[in-house]
Amino acid sequence: MDLAVIILAAGKGTRMRSRLPKVLHKLAGKPLVQHVIDTARHLEPKELIVVAGHGADQLRAVIDDPALKWALQEEQLGTGHAVQIAMPQVTAENVLILYGDVPLITVRTLETLTAAVRPGQMALLSVELSNPAGYGRIVRAADGSVVRIVEQKDATPEELAITEGNTGILCATRDDLARYLAGLSNDNAQGEYYLTDCIEACVESGGTVHGMVAASESEVSGINNKLQLNELERVFQRQAAESLMERGVTLADRERFDLRGEIESIGMDVSIDVNCVFEGKVTIGDNVSIGPNCQIINSTIGDNATILANCVIEDSTVGAGCNIGPFARLRPATELKEGAKVGNFVEIKKAVVGKGSKVNHLTYVGDSLIGENVNIGAGTITCNYDGANKHLTEIGDNAFIGSNTALVAPVKINEGATIGAGSTITREAPANTLTLTRAKQINITGWKRPVKGEKK
Ligand code: UD1
Ligand code: CA
Repeated sequence: MDLAVIILAAGKGTRMRSRLPKVLHKLAGKPLVQHVIDTARHLEPKELIVVAGHGADQLRAVIDDPALKWALQEEQLGTGHAVQIAMPQVTAENVLILYGDVPLITVRTLETLTAAVRPGQMALLSVELSNPAGYGRIVRAADGSVVRIVEQKDATPEELAITEGNTGILCATRDDLARYLAGLSNDNAQGEYYLTDCIEACVESGGTVHGMVAASESEVSGINNKLQLNELERVFQRQAAESLMERGVTLADRERFDLRGEIESIGMDVSIDVNCVFEGKVTIGDNVSIGPNCQIINSTIGDNATILANCVIEDSTVGAGCNIGPFARLRPATELKEGAKVGNFVEIKKAVVGKGSKVNHLTYVGDSLIGENVNIGAGTITCNYDGANKHLTEIGDNAFIGSNTALVAPVKINEGATIGAGSTITREAPANTLTLTRAKQINITGWKRPVKGEKK
């Protein structure tokens, strides 16, 4: 379809009580208006225009997208006025109006809505409401056809009793819309140019308004305050959880699962315990088990991996059969090869941990290349930073690093090397050799422990 989408986002959002423009508040980790933009994109519009007003500079800085067009509405004189401001940039034949604060609208609904539009025929999305307060009411004729929309503040008591509300989302041909907009007046209770008056203009000029009722209230709900923001957040998360369960995932509790990004693919027999948060783009293989309270960001988890409780995994790749946690932190550019094990209180950053290698306890590994079947003892630290620059630690296959070792980078531990516990390694350790820097133990016989209260 030859379509332009106009997204209204000029409002202030006073009730959010925030310095941030309303449409930049986040739902599922993404600005409200970005949800709408992403949905609109699926319709492949010729033009995608955002009408900004309050906080326009902030908006343009955050939603930095060269494919978007912007229209500036300096004074918010009403929804009709906002659309008017964007119209000069429309070259497509049809125009769809969306709202930057209505984030859960679906592609499917919009496809159905836009399909009904022809010259002289516009399409309007309405919603059945249990409490229609605040909404414009859809006035229908005896034959069910839509006649006009009356705003709450302009409505008669009989009109206020109507429970079918206007979502504000509508679609018309550009030429029709331009004509209706040109005829708008602000002679109403709010002194605004109402977009909704286009409905009546269409009917009066002999046109038809196709009224389509939205499938659910949440899909067309706008956000005005933090309470509504949270309500829609929970709707979104419940839907995300349900869609994962449909894909075969076992969730310990669908109410305690949060997705702030995208699970690009997920295998069979995956189980996710409570309070896990997934951010950015995450890929999960078959038969993966994720314990409670894990945060997984932009990462890939291989088949048969087990992630125990309280792990944070960011910009990392976890190979098949790896075992992580509890309480492990994988920082960006960590790559764990097949069957590697990272235990509790271990931090790994920008490092490769080879196949079958183990970093089991209380260790920091940064800027390192670790080979296969390496054992890194408890309390090992790669001293990768000299205060100015980061340096590399290399550890060959089958090396064994004794507990409480400091590896002062740049440094290389060769294949099969054994490092004695408590060493500070500053030079290359040869292959298949025991290297240690530990001071020799002395035993002082006859030495007496001080006794409490005894003077020297
Ligand atoms: C509007 C509709 C009402 C509908 C309701 C649904 C009109 C006249 N009324 O009312 O029928 O039931 O939405 O929520 O359209 N905006 C601008 N520039 C403006 C005015 C508004 O960009 O000059 C944007 C706002 O930022 C907001 C949206 O348009 O995102 C709706 O504006 P708002 O003032 O909230 O409309 P309502 O009075 O709720
Ligand atoms: Ca208003």
